Amino acid sequence: MEFAELCRKRRSVRRFSSTALDERDLSLVLETAMTAPSAGNLQAYRIVLVRDPGALRRLAEAAMGQLFIAQAPVAAVFLALPAVSARRYGERGERLFALQDATIACAYAMLAAEEAGLSTVWVGSFDDAAVASIAGAEAGEVPVAILPVGYAAEHPRLTPRKPLGEMVRGL
Ligand SMILES: Cc1cc2nc3c(=O)[nH]c(=O)nc-3n(C[C@H](O)[C@H](O)[C@H](O)COP(=O)(O)O)c2cc1C
Repeated sequence: MEFAELCRKRRSVRRFSSTALDERDLSLVLETAMTAPSAGNLQAYRIVLVRDPGALRRLAEAAMGQLFIAQAPVAAVFLALPAVSARRYGERGERLFALQDATIACAYAMLAAEEAGLSTVWVGSFDDAAVASIAGAEAGEVPVAILPVGYAAEHPRLTPRKPLGEMVRGL
Protein backbone atom coordinates (compact mmCIF):
# COMPACT_ATOMS: atom_id res chain seq x y z
CA MET A 1 0.00 0.00 0.00
CA GLU A 2 1.24 3.44 -0.78
CA PHE A 3 2.35 5.35 2.30
CA ALA A 4 -0.19 8.19 2.03
CA GLU A 5 -3.00 5.69 1.57
CA LEU A 6 -1.77 3.66 4.56
CA CYS A 7 -1.89 6.80 6.71
CA ARG A 8 -5.32 7.75 5.47
CA LYS A 9 -6.75 4.28 6.12
CA ARG A 10 -5.31 3.82 9.60
CA ARG A 11 -7.72 4.19 12.45
CA SER A 12 -7.53 3.46 16.16
CA VAL A 13 -8.83 0.04 17.12
CA ARG A 14 -10.08 -0.65 20.62
CA ARG A 15 -11.26 -4.21 20.24
CA PHE A 16 -8.78 -6.98 19.51
CA SER A 17 -9.17 -10.66 18.65
CA SER A 18 -7.33 -13.19 20.81
CA THR A 19 -5.24 -14.38 17.83
CA ALA A 20 -1.55 -14.49 18.71
CA LEU A 21 0.77 -12.23 16.79
CA ASP A 22 3.01 -13.56 14.09
CA GLU A 23 6.42 -12.94 15.67
CA ARG A 24 7.86 -11.94 12.28
CA ASP A 25 5.29 -9.15 12.07
CA LEU A 26 6.17 -8.02 15.58
CA SER A 27 9.87 -7.99 14.72
CA LEU A 28 9.14 -5.92 11.63
CA VAL A 29 7.20 -3.43 13.74
CA LEU A 30 10.04 -3.13 16.28
CA GLU A 31 12.77 -2.90 13.66
CA THR A 32 10.84 -0.22 11.80
CA ALA A 33 10.36 1.72 15.04
CA MET A 34 14.12 1.71 15.44
CA THR A 35 14.60 3.36 12.05
CA ALA A 36 12.94 6.49 13.40
CA PRO A 37 15.14 9.56 13.66
CA SER A 38 16.30 10.62 17.10
CA ALA A 39 18.16 13.64 18.45
CA GLY A 40 21.86 13.10 17.82
CA ASN A 41 20.94 9.50 16.93
CA LEU A 42 21.02 8.77 20.66
CA GLN A 43 17.78 6.72 20.51
CA ALA A 44 16.89 7.91 23.99
CA TYR A 45 13.98 5.52 24.43
CA ARG A 46 13.25 1.90 25.17
CA ILE A 47 10.37 -0.32 24.11
CA VAL A 48 9.02 -2.74 26.71
CA LEU A 49 6.83 -5.56 25.41
CA VAL A 50 4.11 -6.65 27.81
CA ARG A 51 2.59 -10.01 26.92
CA ASP A 52 1.76 -11.65 30.22
CA PRO A 53 -2.05 -11.58 30.63
CA GLY A 54 -1.82 -10.48 34.27
CA ALA A 55 0.61 -7.67 33.42
CA LEU A 56 -1.62 -6.60 30.50
CA ARG A 57 -4.56 -6.40 32.90
CA ARG A 58 -2.55 -4.29 35.33
CA LEU A 59 -1.53 -2.07 32.45
CA ALA A 60 -5.18 -1.63 31.46
CA GLU A 61 -6.04 -0.72 35.04
CA ALA A 62 -3.15 1.75 35.18
CA ALA A 63 -4.54 3.29 31.99
CA MET A 64 -7.74 4.41 33.67
CA GLY A 65 -9.43 1.05 33.09
CA GLN A 66 -9.01 0.98 29.31
CA LEU A 67 -9.64 -2.75 29.26
CA PHE A 68 -9.05 -3.20 25.53
CA ILE A 69 -5.33 -3.05 26.36
CA ALA A 70 -5.69 -6.43 28.05
CA GLN A 71 -7.42 -7.90 24.97
CA ALA A 72 -4.40 -7.33 22.76
CA PRO A 73 -1.80 -10.10 22.61
CA VAL A 74 0.96 -7.57 23.24
CA ALA A 75 1.28 -3.97 24.35
CA ALA A 76 4.44 -1.99 23.70
CA VAL A 77 5.29 0.59 26.33
CA PHE A 78 7.49 3.37 24.98
CA LEU A 79 9.80 4.82 27.61
CA ALA A 80 11.71 8.08 27.19
CA LEU A 81 15.24 8.15 28.66
CA PRO A 82 15.77 11.82 29.53
CA ALA A 83 19.15 11.20 31.17
CA VAL A 84 20.54 9.85 27.90
CA SER A 85 19.53 12.99 25.99
CA ALA A 86 20.58 15.27 28.83
CA ARG A 87 24.17 14.04 28.67
CA ARG A 88 24.61 15.66 25.27
CA TYR A 89 21.82 18.23 25.08
CA GLY A 90 21.35 19.35 28.67
CA GLU A 91 17.99 20.69 29.73
CA ARG A 92 16.51 20.66 26.22
CA GLY A 93 17.46 17.02 25.76
CA GLU A 94 16.03 16.09 29.15
CA ARG A 95 12.79 18.00 28.74
CA LEU A 96 12.10 17.61 25.03
CA PHE A 97 14.32 15.41 22.89
CA ALA A 98 13.91 12.15 24.79
CA LEU A 99 10.13 12.53 24.67
CA GLN A 100 10.31 13.26 20.96
CA ASP A 101 12.59 10.26 20.36
CA ALA A 102 10.10 7.95 22.08
CA THR A 103 7.14 9.58 20.38
CA ILE A 104 8.40 9.31 16.84
CA ALA A 105 9.52 5.71 17.41
CA CYS A 106 6.00 4.91 18.58
CA ALA A 107 4.53 6.62 15.51
CA TYR A 108 6.77 4.54 13.24
CA ALA A 109 5.71 1.38 15.10
CA MET A 110 2.05 2.28 14.68
CA LEU A 111 2.40 2.72 10.92
CA ALA A 112 4.55 -0.38 10.51
CA ALA A 113 1.89 -2.38 12.37
CA GLU A 114 -0.73 -1.04 10.01
CA GLU A 115 1.29 -2.12 7.02
CA ALA A 116 1.66 -5.61 8.50
CA GLY A 117 -2.14 -5.90 8.77
CA LEU A 118 -2.13 -5.31 12.51
CA SER A 119 -4.06 -2.71 14.45
CA THR A 120 -3.13 -0.40 17.27
CA VAL A 121 -4.32 2.50 19.34
CA TRP A 122 -2.07 5.09 20.94
CA VAL A 123 -2.81 5.17 24.68
CA GLY A 124 -1.61 8.24 26.50
CA SER A 125 -3.97 8.39 29.47
CA PHE A 126 -2.38 6.48 32.28
CA ASP A 127 -0.83 6.70 35.70
CA ASP A 128 2.87 7.29 34.99
CA ALA A 129 4.19 5.63 38.14
CA ALA A 130 2.01 2.53 37.77
CA VAL A 131 2.93 2.05 34.10
CA ALA A 132 6.62 2.63 34.83
CA SER A 133 6.46 -0.04 37.52
CA ILE A 134 4.63 -2.61 35.34
CA ALA A 135 7.09 -1.96 32.51
CA GLY A 136 10.04 -2.38 34.85
CA ALA A 137 11.29 1.10 34.03
CA GLU A 138 14.52 2.20 35.65
CA ALA A 139 14.72 5.37 37.73
CA GLY A 140 14.11 8.43 35.58
CA GLU A 141 12.67 6.54 32.61
CA VAL A 142 9.35 8.05 31.61
CA PRO A 143 6.48 6.15 29.98
CA VAL A 144 5.27 8.13 26.98
CA ALA A 145 2.77 5.85 25.26
CA ILE A 146 1.25 2.40 25.43
CA LEU A 147 0.66 0.79 22.05
CA PRO A 148 -1.52 -2.32 22.17
CA VAL A 149 -0.88 -4.31 18.99
CA GLY A 150 -3.11 -7.04 17.64
CA TYR A 151 -5.66 -8.11 15.08
CA ALA A 152 -8.74 -5.93 14.85
CA ALA A 153 -12.05 -7.30 16.09
CA GLU A 154 -13.83 -4.12 15.01
CA HIS A 155 -13.67 -1.84 12.02
CA PRO A 156 -14.35 1.65 13.28
CA ARG A 157 -15.09 4.52 10.95
CA LEU A 158 -12.33 6.84 9.92
CA THR A 159 -12.29 9.90 12.13
CA PRO A 160 -12.52 13.33 10.48
CA ARG A 161 -9.74 15.88 10.38
CA LYS A 162 -9.88 19.66 10.35
CA PRO A 163 -9.47 21.27 6.95
CA LEU A 164 -5.89 21.78 5.83
CA GLY A 165 -6.39 25.54 5.72
CA GLU A 166 -7.16 25.56 9.43
CA MET A 167 -4.11 23.51 10.31
CA VAL A 168 -1.45 25.04 8.12
CA ARG A 169 -0.46 28.66 8.21
CA GLY A 170 1.12 30.22 5.16
CA LEU A 171 -0.58 28.08 2.54
C1 LIG B 1 -1.10 11.61 22.48
C2 LIG B 1 -2.28 10.70 22.27
C3 LIG B 1 -2.94 10.17 23.35
C4 LIG B 1 -4.03 9.31 23.16
N1 LIG B 1 -4.58 8.67 24.25
C5 LIG B 1 -5.58 7.80 24.06
C6 LIG B 1 -6.09 7.05 25.15
O1 LIG B 1 -5.62 7.14 26.29
N2 LIG B 1 -7.11 6.19 24.90
C7 LIG B 1 -7.64 6.01 23.65
O2 LIG B 1 -8.56 5.20 23.52
N3 LIG B 1 -7.15 6.68 22.59
C8 LIG B 1 -6.14 7.56 22.75
N4 LIG B 1 -5.59 8.19 21.67
C9 LIG B 1 -6.11 7.91 20.31
C10 LIG B 1 -6.95 9.08 19.78
O3 LIG B 1 -8.17 9.13 20.46
C11 LIG B 1 -7.19 8.88 18.25
O4 LIG B 1 -5.95 8.82 17.60
C12 LIG B 1 -8.00 10.02 17.67
O5 LIG B 1 -9.31 10.03 18.20
C13 LIG B 1 -8.10 9.94 16.15
O6 LIG B 1 -8.63 8.70 15.76
P1 LIG B 1 -7.84 7.73 14.79
O7 LIG B 1 -6.58 7.30 15.47
O8 LIG B 1 -8.76 6.57 14.55
O9 LIG B 1 -7.53 8.48 13.53
C14 LIG B 1 -4.49 9.03 21.84
C15 LIG B 1 -3.81 9.56 20.75
C16 LIG B 1 -2.69 10.34 20.95
C17 LIG B 1 -1.91 10.83 19.73
